Amino acid sequence: MSNVSYFSGETFPLEMHKVRIIQKLTLLPIEQRAQAMAAAGYNSFLLENKDVFLDMLTDSGVNAMSDRQQAAMLLADDAYAGSATFFRLHAKLQEFFGLKYFLPTHQGRAAENILSVTFIKPGDVVPMNYHFTTTKAHLVRDGARVVEFIKKEGLDVSNDDPFKGEFDCARLEALVEEIGADRIPFVRMEAGTNLIGGQPFSLANLREVSETCHKHGILLVLDASLLADNLHFIKTREAACKDMSIHEIVLEMASLSDIVYSSFRKLGFGRGGGICTSNEELYKRMRGFVPMYEGFLTYGGMSVREMEAIVIGLDETLDEDMINQGPNFIAHMVTELQKYNIPVVTPPGGLGAHLDAMRFLDHVDQRQYPSASLTAAVYIASGVRGMERGTMSEQREPDGTEPLADMELLRLAMPRRVFTLSQVNYAIDRIRWLYANRRIVGGLEWDEEPEILRFFYGRLRPIGDWPAELVAKFRQDFGDSL
Ligand code: F0G
Repeated sequence: MSNVSYFSGETFPLEMHKVRIIQKLTLLPIEQRAQAMAAAGYNSFLLENKDVFLDMLTDSGVNAMSDRQQAAMLLADDAYAGSATFFRLHAKLQEFFGLKYFLPTHQGRAAENILSVTFIKPGDVVPMNYHFTTTKAHLVRDGARVVEFIKKEGLDVSNDDPFKGEFDCARLEALVEEIGADRIPFVRMEAGTNLIGGQPFSLANLREVSETCHKHGILLVLDASLLADNLHFIKTREAACKDMSIHEIVLEMASLSDIVYSSFRKLGFGRGGGICTSNEELYKRMRGFVPMYEGFLTYGGMSVREMEAIVIGLDETLDEDMINQGPNFIAHMVTELQKYNIPVVTPPGGLGAHLDAMRFLDHVDQRQYPSASLTAAVYIASGVRGMERGTMSEQREPDGTEPLADMELLRLAMPRRVFTLSQVNYAIDRIRWLYANRRIVGGLEWDEEPEILRFFYGRLRPIGDWPAELVAKFRQDFGDSL
């Protein structure tokens, strides 16, 4: 439990679970890691997992399941229509969010597709605390413009505000004044705001957003994919909520929103996705798209085994001992890195530890993708796979201009219940070495740049031969160590 105190006066996370199934890992020698990165076009998405030691690419669909989840999967009821598994999941979601209707989807972005095709007309504007890549891609495809009303502290990497994911309602008021509420189909609030370093918003802020939206007749949509982390932070950082149970917080968050959607690859330690609402009219407007894009209304593209795992995973999400594991490991990593002056996003958020590539590689021009370079360099130095969250994750404007990201981050995601503290300490050690040798690392340029969601499968090449220099320096410092 996080509130155990230690005789030594130190603080470190303590897992309230034990490991009962293991998977063997391989740590390749650095020369092979450099080759694997070159073969992957310096894009960590294109690495083969067999070449990865610690996979910190994401916390999506890779969280460890519990014994209870695995057991439930064996009891799944297979049916195209009307499976008992679906009704168990529906009942669990009704209990969890207190919302009446549920539309299943194969994952979170499929829910975003349905929201977008249902509610967006060309020329609409969708305000949100901050965009997520797949969300924005759908909305833009359907002709909307996304505006981000994150409060100003949110984009300041080293600001210690406990709720950097908060939405600035004054900017929504100004937008309504300017374009009218009719052009704003909904406001989207993303729990555990992904692209700014897994930063939460407070329950007080959600109350204010809800009130502002509803005053103008605008729908409020909550993206609950990273809800578990946000719940932990509301519970531990928002004084007014310290006596609320996790479930009371969830119920209030859902009741403030008109629609809640989620990736269950994150929330509920499962796979899959879905949309919940208590509004019958909204439910009926979205419903027809589920059989069209996803599958019948009682599975929506998910396997029954996945659905059973979510049922149990949602119960586990209400257990502080379960949902604090990710944030506590992340806090350990961030605090350790800070001890060595390594630039990281603070305060520690959910999702993962985020290195600030703009400062880590302050000699690399932002147009040469410093966070993609840092991602490649960390893999070469350690076998740890992170994810670029910077300019490469942006999309070009229709006229071909390239927006520079607000932040250049390397995300080292912390899949829940997967890694041990010694593995995290290894990653910290290698990042320290890389930081000491950061001047070796140069930028990247495109080899092959896809038009849509380019970060997923685009290929780059190094500017200069810095990967070889990094390998040589590693050998000089570490001899024949892995
Ligand atoms: N919303 C948020 C906040 C997310 O983090 C994600 C996925 C989605 C929606 C889409 O859900 O993947 O199930 O289709 N985030 C993953 C990540 C991809 O690695 O951060 P999905």
